[in-house]
Amino acid sequence: MPLVTLSNSRTFAADPATSILEAARSQGVTLEYSCRTGRCGICKAPVISGETLILRPEGSSLSPAEAAQGLILTCCRAAISPLALDIEPLDRLSGIEIKTIPARIVALDPVAPDIIKLVLKTPPTSPLRFVAGQYVDIIAEGGVRRSYSLANAPRGDGLLEFIIKRYDGGVLSAYWFERAKRNDLLRLEGPFGTFFLREQRPANLLFLATGTGIAPVKALLEELAADPAQAAGHRLTVLWGNREAASFCWEPSALGLDLAFHCLLSGGDTAWRGRRGYVQDAAISLGFDPHETAVYACGSSAMIASARAALLALGLPSRRFFSDAFVSSN
Ligand SMILES: Cc1cc2nc3c(=O)[nH]c(=O)nc-3n(C[C@H](O)[C@H](O)[C@H](O)COP(=O)(O)OP(=O)(O)OC[C@H]3O[C@@H](n4cnc5c(N)ncnc54)[C@H](O)[C@@H]3O)c2cc1C
Ligand code: FES
Repeated sequence: MPLVTLSNSRTFAADPATSILEAARSQGVTLEYSCRTGRCGICKAPVISGETLILRPEGSSLSPAEAAQGLILTCCRAAISPLALDIEPLDRLSGIEIKTIPARIVALDPVAPDIIKLVLKTPPTSPLRFVAGQYVDIIAEGGVRRSYSLANAPRGDGLLEFIIKRYDGGVLSAYWFERAKRNDLLRLEGPFGTFFLREQRPANLLFLATGTGIAPVKALLEELAADPAQAAGHRLTVLWGNREAASFCWEPSALGLDLAFHCLLSGGDTAWRGRRGYVQDAAISLGFDPHETAVYACGSSAMIASARAALLALGLPSRRFFSDAFVSSN
């Protein structure tokens, strides 16, 4: 089997029938990823040398220009020769096992016209171990599965919170908003994703969210709140965008963090007296320092692509832009 070498010299063997991402995972090496299916672009990696084979289309997540520069999506390609990639493994997730476990609904509350807060409980004998910011696949009626970010940091009682939006015509939306009730038994697979706080933390931590993308941002803030001395060393800014004023269904005051929290409306609600516009534009107008900032962005692919392009153009190194895109299931 070909050997893949990462930029810190870590190696793993890669079966030509398995994606590089999955081959790494099966040998305890975590690479950066989110969707696992070629839709978010987060697993993009520069090839230094070697040959790869496309297992699934890289689609619009990798532009022709990026492909020409030697970038690949590790969730879409297999190694077919010794391969060197200019990426590093993420050691914070080592030892966290991906598993499928049952979970019961303990609460399901509307928090906005089209948004619910869901709380699940796993059996005490099978707790979900995860890092704040990760997501799980929830497997509901008929085996339908969708990805949802955990909206809390790990907590003592093991409860798992989610913030879920209704999509018109959505299969699981119909379940969540019309049939789901307390005590329903579901299954979870996870945890997945690499949207977590990195050890390297510059002076400014900027969190950008659109819609229910606030869920994993809330989890990251809870992790910071659990270590006030650590949090105090950073300037924290949260910019949250929604199209409708009623969608601002959470605010961080209970965390006790010293942070700047701005809600931005992108829709036309005339009664709104707060800020308007897009989170990426607000980040710049509030005074963005590319040299001393790490950005954590979660929500729509459009916001993530625009924010990334705008902030990298100002000099933010790509290694300090972390994101999780809520891409569609189809
Ligand atoms: C890593 C990850 C984390 C996620 N976390 C959350 C979360 O915390 N909260 C949450 O509400 N959702 C989250 N999502 C989105 C979620 O997985 C589903 O896509 C969403 O709930 C719709 O599922 P559905 O079955 O209701 O709709 P589907 O039956 O899948 O689709 C119905 C219609 O809605 C459109 N649609 C579906 N999903 C999206 C989307 N994400 N963006 C735009 N259009 C869409 C489809 O194209 C289709 O036209 C996440 C997605 C990913 C990949
Ligand atoms: S495109 Fe590979 S993880 Fe999303």
